[in-house]
Order: sequence, then structure tokens, then C-alpha cells
Amino acid sequence: MRILSGVQPSGNLHIGNYFGAIRQFVALQEEPGNECYYFLADLHAMTTIKDGSELRRLSLMVAADYIALGLDPARSVLYRQSDILEVAELAWMLSTVTPMGLLQRGHSYKDKIAKGITPNHGLFAYPVLMAADILIVRADRVPVGKDQKQHLEMTRDIAGAFNQAYGAELLRIPEELILPEVAVVPGVDGQKMSKSYGNTIDIFAPESELRKRIMSIVTDSTPVAEPKPTRGNSLYALLKLFTPAEAWPDTKRRFTEGGTGYGELKKVLLGLVLERFGAARRRREELLHDPGYVQQVLRVGRERAMTAISEVMTDCRRATGLGW
Ligand code: ADP
Ligand code: TRP
Repeated sequence: MRILSGVQPSGNLHIGNYFGAIRQFVALQEEPGNECYYFLADLHAMTTIKDGSELRRLSLMVAADYIALGLDPARSVLYRQSDILEVAELAWMLSTVTPMGLLQRGHSYKDKIAKGITPNHGLFAYPVLMAADILIVRADRVPVGKDQKQHLEMTRDIAGAFNQAYGAELLRIPEELILPEVAVVPGVDGQKMSKSYGNTIDIFAPESELRKRIMSIVTDSTPVAEPKPTRGNSLYALLKLFTPAEAWPDTKRRFTEGGTGYGELKKVLLGLVLERFGAARRRREELLHDPGYVQQVLRVGRERAMTAISEVMTDCRRATGLGW
């Protein structure tokens, strides 16, 4: 099974990203028979980041973050989208079979316009570029969050239109892989954890910042001695994600029986977060001091990805009349 996913190098990773996406990427890489391609979607990030040095900095940082969290360059192909010019070439080919109406119906495009963002062509054509990312390696499965479901539907439509025009077997029709059991991780204010809500707990924040964020998790005013509600309680939900199964009955009891204050439970959570990410935090520090290594990983990834990509591009160029 060929697996592909892309991440925008758009900022600091939080624990919602970890449980909702990264953990799944790592698990897929461990499954025998999978061939995984993960890339930094820096061309996509250009639709929001307009500062060259910032995009460069974020690309290196996010690559280091993912490697530190377990994406293994020996087992997965890790690369940077902009290192593969063929992606833009295929995006153009696909744009010539993509109906305007398909793009006009895009939720993400419509949401951005509703928020008052002045649309540019890159934002409008975003799903075509994403289709090119996926189709260029003939991916079978694309692990993504629920918000990307429509982009995968568009990818299938675009691939279908291209195959209909140029040859039935040219592009492989991919499926999204959306894990339903991944609950929405709540942020410190109880809403979905998201960069855009400012309620995140960042995986790689300095320890003092991490402590502050965890201590700021909103709780109710149940007295220490009383049992604590568990429903809609984000501290409870976060502890559940981090507590090893064998220790969970005990932690759960501390909520349901009373006698433990929220402050104490927050300290337990801080300990668990540091324990879970301790090794990744140390590894990331090393990687950030060695950008040459991270760049080397991406260069090797590019070469490996090109093996699959050259094959598809040769077929597409020939079929469209661009190749001899
Ligand atoms: P953000 O909402 O912070 O901007 P992104 O949209 O960049 O996060 O999400 C990247 C990945 O992380 C997606 O696959 C998304 O589904 C997942 N993800 C983000 N926030 C959460 C969350 N609170 N719970 C579960 N998964 C999440
Ligand atoms: N659009 C995705 C997001 O915002 C990122 C992305 C770009 C992607 N190209 C992709 C994801 C191809 C999966 C496959 O999260």
C-alpha cells in the first residue's frame, strides 16, 4: 500500500496534531507492506506565509519536529514539495481538466472568503495542487483530518477527468484514511485544540511554558473533597490520552471519588506530557542544532520520491503530448 500525506510548515505542533495526525503517520510507517511518503507542503504554505525567511525557518523546524516525533527517514520518504518541480507541472496539467465549478464549491476556499480574506489564484487552485501531490506518487491511501475529506473527493474527480481525457490507467484513484476513533483533542479552554483558537499545548514549548499552559486548563469550581465531573472536562480528556492503560483506573478514581484537587491532577498531566515527549524534545534540540542533517534527509527523500514520480510524469507527458 502506498501512503502519502503532506503537512504545511505553518507553525508549532500541538498535542492535537500529535493524536490527530502524527501518531497515525508513525503507525502507518511501522506496518509491513506500507511504503510511506510524507512531505512538507511549502508551496501550499505560500498561500498564507508571505515572508521568505519565515517559510524557510518553519520548513526546517517542522521537518525536525516530525523526525523527532518518529518519522524515520530510513523507513519513510521525507521530502519538501518545492524540491520537486514536477508537482507544479502536474498541477498545471490537472488544471486543464478541472472545472471552475468544482473549485468554486470548495469549503475551505468559501470559508476563507467568508472570513474576508481577499482570494488569490493560489488559494482558489489549492485543491489542484493537492491533487498533484497525491496523484504524482500514485498513492493508494492518504491519511488526513476530517477537514481534508472534500479535498480528497476533488482529487478523485480531477484524476477521473484526466484519465477520461488521456487514458484510463494513467492516474491511480486514491482514498482518504480518516481514523474515526481519534477523538477531537480539547484545548485549554475546552474547545477543539487549534492554532487558530490560541488554546494549544505545544509539544516542543519550553518546560516553563508547558507548565503554564497546563496550569491554565479551564476547570470548574468543584471543591477538592468532592467528586469531579468527567463529561466535558478537558483535563480529564487530556489525562485519558496520556495515561497508560494500567494506570487509568486509578486516575479515573481520583476524579470520581473526590479528594484530589485540579491543581494536583494538572501536575500529573504535566509529568505525563514531559515523559511522553521527553525523548522527542531532546532529539529535536539536537536536530535544530544540525540543520545540515535535516536538509540532507530532505535531499535523500527527494531522490527516493523521484523514482516513483519520474515514472508517472513520463506517462503523463507522453499521454498529453508534452513528451515525445
Ligand atoms: P490547527 O487546527 O491547529 O491549524 P491543522 O489544521 O494544521 O491544525 O491540523 C493538522 C492535523 O492535525 C490535521 O490532520 C488535523 O486533523 C489534526 N488536528 C488538529 N487539531 C486537532 C485536534 N484538536 N484534535 C485532533 N486532531 C487534530
Ligand atoms: N491541505 C493539507 C492541510 O492543510 C496539506 C496537504 C497538502 C496535503 N497536500 C497534501 C495532505 C496531500 C495530504 C495529501 O492539512
